[in-house]
Amino acid sequence: MSDTPSKTFPKRIFSGIQPSGGLTLGNYLGAIKRFVTAQDEGIETIYCLVDLHAITVWQDPAKLRHATRELAAGYLAAGIDPARSILFNQSQVPAHAELAWIFNCVARMGWLRRMTQFKDKAGKHAEEASVGLFAYPNLMAADILVYFATHVPVGEDQKQHLELARDIAIKFNHDFGVDFFPVVEPVIEGAATRVMSLRDGTKKMSKSDPSDQSRINLTDDADAIAQKIRKARTDPEPLPETIEGLEGRAEARNLVNIYAALADVTPGQVLSAHGGKGFGTFKPALAELAVEKLSPLNAEMRRLMQDPAEIDRLLGQGADRAHAIAQPILEQTLDIVGMIRSRGAGSGSGR
Ligand code: TYM
Repeated sequence: MSDTPSKTFPKRIFSGIQPSGGLTLGNYLGAIKRFVTAQDEGIETIYCLVDLHAITVWQDPAKLRHATRELAAGYLAAGIDPARSILFNQSQVPAHAELAWIFNCVARMGWLRRMTQFKDKAGKHAEEASVGLFAYPNLMAADILVYFATHVPVGEDQKQHLELARDIAIKFNHDFGVDFFPVVEPVIEGAATRVMSLRDGTKKMSKSDPSDQSRINLTDDADAIAQKIRKARTDPEPLPETIEGLEGRAEARNLVNIYAALADVTPGQVLSAHGGKGFGTFKPALAELAVEKLSPLNAEMRRLMQDPAEIDRLLGQGADRAHAIAQPILEQTLDIVGMIRSRGAGSGSGR
């Protein structure tokens, strides 16, 4: 049997974000904004708030609940429409955790040991890290495959995890002699697949960076956004006319990429318009653009957060729709693996 499934799967997009603290401009440009585009193109889209992933490192329960609602508000404010996309939090659909267990038994220790994100997050304290943090990519594979999702838009930092999801699908299909799970396609496209820190152009913009000046949070007001861009680290040279001129200028490249992603143009077009200008001119233009694009989002998030019950209701509805897709796929998986499924409507094929 070939390792490449011959079954064709309809295009279905899945992606997820952790509710582990505030959303950054990196999450917005690298993920949410692109999720909205996919939805608006009429593709079937499933978007998840991965609360089970968040608890792989300690989360205060009250803060986790707040961060989950705030993330939901971020998705909605950015344009995710719960009537067109399925929007839900992971823990309300138990099939994710159940399929993850199966994948714990498919993935190999050596595969997970190679994950750079585990090494980065656990650092020198790997022995103290939770088992969940180590097995995290298996749950991520389950998130995707429990919907037979075919395409996964993410930022650059998730590439290795998606390769693991592909390996898991291939090994499962191979071990059980089936043509069952799709081999997912990572979708890592556009100018903002790796938004960098405003303080250090070699580091990813991240909610866990100790310096708040390093990132723009989606909850920042107009003054904070403008101030952070004004203070962003740069070099003394004017902007080049061409992309090649950004070589070795990580901070300049980052600001150009951010501008391009916010304005929906290419970095080349940004340089055609701004090449030759110094940062004294470019930064105010970028600040104005960022405020114009992010302020309405920020205001809408705040409005939505005033009605947490409505957010919870929407997440519950999304979870019902997600469950309806995931549960039959989980049942088929368990049947393939050899588990007896004889309870009520969940009975298997009787092989
Ligand atoms: P998370 O919560 O760290 O990030 C959510 C999304 O935002 C992207 N991102 C960035 N993109 C560009 N520049 C940045 N500086 C930046 N920072 C974050 C991430 O690449 C991601 O797309 N493991 C995932 C969540 C997850 C998931 C999944 C994703 C769980 N299950 C299934 C896809 C499919 C994570 O921790 O993302």
